[in-house]
Amino acid sequence: MREAYHIDLAARYLGVDLPHPIGKGSGQLSLNAAQLEDDAAAGLAFAVLKTVIAEDETGAQAMAAWAIHETRMKVERRGRSGWTVTWKGRGWDRSLAEYLALVRAGRDLARATGMLVVPSVKYHLPRLAEPFNDGEYRHTTRHLLEAWGEPPLLLEKDFSPTLAGDPLSEDRAQIVRWLREVPERIRGAAPVPVRVAVKLMNARFDDAFQLAMMDAAAGADALVCFNRLFDERLGVAYGGWELSDRNLRVLETRLTPHASAGVPALVGTGNICSGRMILEYARRGCESVQLHTFFQLPLSEYPATHGSRPQRALHVLVFHPRDGLVAGMLELEAQGKLERRGGEGHFLDLASDAHRPD
Ligand SMILES: Cc1cc2nc3c(=O)[nH]c(=O)nc-3n(C[C@H](O)[C@H](O)[C@H](O)COP(=O)(O)O)c2cc1C
Repeated sequence: MREAYHIDLAARYLGVDLPHPIGKGSGQLSLNAAQLEDDAAAGLAFAVLKTVIAEDETGAQAMAAWAIHETRMKVERRGRSGWTVTWKGRGWDRSLAEYLALVRAGRDLARATGMLVVPSVKYHLPRLAEPFNDGEYRHTTRHLLEAWGEPPLLLEKDFSPTLAGDPLSEDRAQIVRWLREVPERIRGAAPVPVRVAVKLMNARFDDAFQLAMMDAAAGADALVCFNRLFDERLGVAYGGWELSDRNLRVLETRLTPHASAGVPALVGTGNICSGRMILEYARRGCESVQLHTFFQLPLSEYPATHGSRPQRALHVLVFHPRDGLVAGMLELEAQGKLERRGGEGHFLDLASDAHRPD
């Protein structure tokens, strides 16, 4: 990329340097070692494992309602040329021991291939008057740390769309308290450094509350913005253009000249189906992106005629002659929106320029 196009795609997730910004979001496509091996072979920059439901030393799970078994998924069209995956499931539905085995397999693969692998957890979230169940935070975090082996431990804390649809999330003050306290609870649960990415939900309130959630979660190391929307009528989460419209609108509002000082790094997620869409998130401050739906389309939707889904997806995301990352970055250069440094256009400059006044 650097030789042929003078483009440096280097990106970042939770403080780790990545060769490019494209990773896999937590979900049904990061449930087993075979999926991770395909991702690493394709050259994904990182993969976030399916969300495990935390438990305490007795095996009790306060968020047990999220550990349900459901396999049927349907990939459907949604809105103007958009896609969504309709699925009634929630978190990891097997044992913590099996999850830890996946974390170890991910760790070995990460060491062997350089693809970053990160676990994802849903920990206890109390009602306002209740205390946090620290036993869950301690037990689960320490086991993850043991499975990962060497510090720092990187992990994502999932605030999911089904949580947004749950009666637990009807109270704004309650959500704000979770976001304020959860990063420190996780860090406090381990004797070594832990870097926490908080994956924010799209709450059932207005855009201003999305911003309030970002502020409340300022103690996290990174914010993943934002998980899928929740359809109350159908009782399912969904994506597509409505999701990216909302996410980009909120991120845009967030941009201020000084926003990069001392606030968590941003990671984009939601309806990323082209290199251009990656650039939309980057220009609103995101240093990398997480995709799920685009790795799940019918094979006929990818221009490549061979290779695994992650390979075909990466190919078109990067090289599409009109909508790919390369075409989009060269266009931004031509428009004077991305200046070369050292003879190259740098992807990460888009995120840092996002916070600069024009
Ligand atoms: C079937 C399915 C399962 C998912 N499961 C999880 C999960 O367990 N934890 C999580 O943090 N995100 C989960 N997600 C959210 C995705 O990681 C991603 O952030 C979201 O779908 C938006 O990206 P997309 O439009 O590329 O799909 C799931 C998404 C789908 C479609």
